[in-house]
Amino acid sequence: MAQSKKNKILVTSALPYANGSLHCGHMVEYIQTDIFVRFLRLIGEDIIYVCADDAHGAPIEIKAAELGIKPEQLIADVYKEHVQDFKDFLVSFDNYYTTNSGENKHYSDLIFEKLKKKNLIYTKDIEVTYCENCKRTLPDRYVKGKCPKCGAADQYGDVCENCNAVYKTIDLVDPYCVVCKNKPVRKTSKHYFFKLSKFSKKLESWLNKNKNLQPEIKNFVFNWIKNGLEDWNISRDGPYFGFKIPGEEDKYYYVWLDAPIGYIASTDNYCKKHNLKTEDYWQNKDTRIYHFIGKDIIYFHFLFWPAMLIGAGFELPYDIVVHGFLTVNGEKMSKSRGTFFTAREFLQSHNAEHLRFYYSSLLSKTMSDIDLNFEDFRKKINNELAANIGNFCYRVLSFLNKNFDGQVKDIDQNKQLISEINKKIKEIEKNYYELNFIEAVKNILHISSFGNKYFQANEPWKLIKEDKEKVHKILGLSVNIVKNLSILIQPILPNFSSQLQKQLNLENLKWDDIDFKLKNHKIGKEEILITKMEEKEEIKKEFPLNLKVAKIIAIREHPNADKLYVMQIDLGNERRQLVAGIRQHYSLDELKNKKIIVVTNLKHAKLRGIESQGMLLAGVTENEETIGLLTVDKSEAGDKVYLDGYENLTEELSFEEFLKLDIRAKNGHAIFEGKELKTDKDIVRVEKVRDGA
Ligand code: MSP
Ligand code: ZN
Repeated sequence: MAQSKKNKILVTSALPYANGSLHCGHMVEYIQTDIFVRFLRLIGEDIIYVCADDAHGAPIEIKAAELGIKPEQLIADVYKEHVQDFKDFLVSFDNYYTTNSGENKHYSDLIFEKLKKKNLIYTKDIEVTYCENCKRTLPDRYVKGKCPKCGAADQYGDVCENCNAVYKTIDLVDPYCVVCKNKPVRKTSKHYFFKLSKFSKKLESWLNKNKNLQPEIKNFVFNWIKNGLEDWNISRDGPYFGFKIPGEEDKYYYVWLDAPIGYIASTDNYCKKHNLKTEDYWQNKDTRIYHFIGKDIIYFHFLFWPAMLIGAGFELPYDIVVHGFLTVNGEKMSKSRGTFFTAREFLQSHNAEHLRFYYSSLLSKTMSDIDLNFEDFRKKINNELAANIGNFCYRVLSFLNKNFDGQVKDIDQNKQLISEINKKIKEIEKNYYELNFIEAVKNILHISSFGNKYFQANEPWKLIKEDKEKVHKILGLSVNIVKNLSILIQPILPNFSSQLQKQLNLENLKWDDIDFKLKNHKIGKEEILITKMEEKEEIKKEFPLNLKVAKIIAIREHPNADKLYVMQIDLGNERRQLVAGIRQHYSLDELKNKKIIVVTNLKHAKLRGIESQGMLLAGVTENEETIGLLTVDKSEAGDKVYLDGYENLTEELSFEEFLKLDIRAKNGHAIFEGKELKTDKDIVRVEKVRDGA
């Protein structure tokens, strides 16, 4: 635990993928890192915290193609969303960048060329899976087939979910392209390999020398090395969203090559803006580089990345802090069980600082998983944060304001209490440095308990009648405890801390301001800062569709399209016209007077010249041969169709956004995020299709 305050510190969190929203699992890492970073700033370290969106890779290229937008547009939209989420969770990056940047291209090429010059990169022809229809090489997740080991159907191109076998896409039996369902072919393609196998010794020696890395993780990595490291394919065929390999027409760096280089690129971007030197961070033995990552990306950060750094002449990380995964109510987060919460969904009904407090009460430097249990969450907020810390601060400040006009004069010299608190403060400092937030929280709570007991035992509300001066001193010591708490808890609850300091008529206190010297000072107005959480406060989720029961009151064939019908529907308080492609599946007679489910907030569209003011919902079997309408029995036209615990949104939805929603048929019911579509009177039925999309 080096604690000299002169050397530079660089802290990073893993770069989140730019193809989707941040969720509460991600926030474990960014909150953990941010608490550490805020502590280092508070104590006066010379530290910067950098991160970026991880903007490259096949999923981003494919998702953008699906949405009909450019990848640049997709990553720009996601970037905005991520930045806002981080801001609202009080994650205080010094620089948040993107890997799709000039700086990152520069450093990726630089490192690639250095490695090539040192003969650490070579090319080799390999066999890949190619879809002639989509005209692309299929990455792991875009080809499915039977597992070559156990024969299980519908397995991805990298591992079998049934028997856990690991294989290559070309090993799949009866493969098909996930996008177009056609059978792909094999093709040879030249690829670039990084000689990871050459680094076994150097990596082992780094691991042995570095005393900060978590021992249980070192063991893993030693085992991997012992079992033999394979050279690493660092190229991908186009179409791909990434940086082109110098001198190649249609080959790109694999996203995991340029992603960690994004740490350097973001640093460089920061340095340019602040007149600093990137080398001072990445090529300086005295700088301490901390990476924070989750347990799923250990291989990349403990093998590939340090090997690249050694090969290209950069300094190795001082520490790589690995955390576990978030579970929700004891289980893996899952969309179908309704336990998958995006960061934004959480914020709609909860307070970011509550989550910061809760996570910190569970986090230490280990890779055990942590659980978001809502019952436990509420108890911690109510019994620890509100009833202990919040209550102590409020009662001291309000008593002082009420009885002494907010004036702090002298301080009760209670040596025993002060020395007990000082001992805890030393421990808390150590806890933060060692990332032992569980203990830091406990120790902070101890201090406010000491304060509460001290206040309670002295019964100032009685004593004030006999010895007002003594009570004034007791309040003096109490206010000093409040002040110290506001500093000690600042890394975890930055807003609470600054609001509390405002009430104390102080601001921006540093770790060095922790003392018992605040006197002859007038405080500001007190206010309750922490309110208790209600029982059964759940995360309210939004259902982007505004669904209603509709009755078909008139129907005819579309004059210019032999698959379409044109129908007039009754939605209770309004009538609309729909155009629907179900002519091969339902006759006119079957449809007349039928009750169907209609999306009412979809952007209106013209289908072969006729306007459709909504869309009906239907299920389809896997083989796409049978289509069955969603319907209800008892409900009436106009009845709301919804999911329990969700609110229907009425904002207009584009067709692309609609396509992203995964509503499936299961046992003849329509399921979204694990819940059945229903009305107040029925559960929605899917005709003809038991299971499907
Ligand atoms: N883009 C890569 C990282 C590149 S770093 C050069 C990536 N992105 S990610 O978005 O999938 O994850 C970002 C970080 O969040 C990772 O460290 C990952 O471990 C962490 N988490 C993602 N899901 C998580 C949970 N459910 N729980 C805890 N952490 C989780 O990996
Ligand atoms: Zn295809």
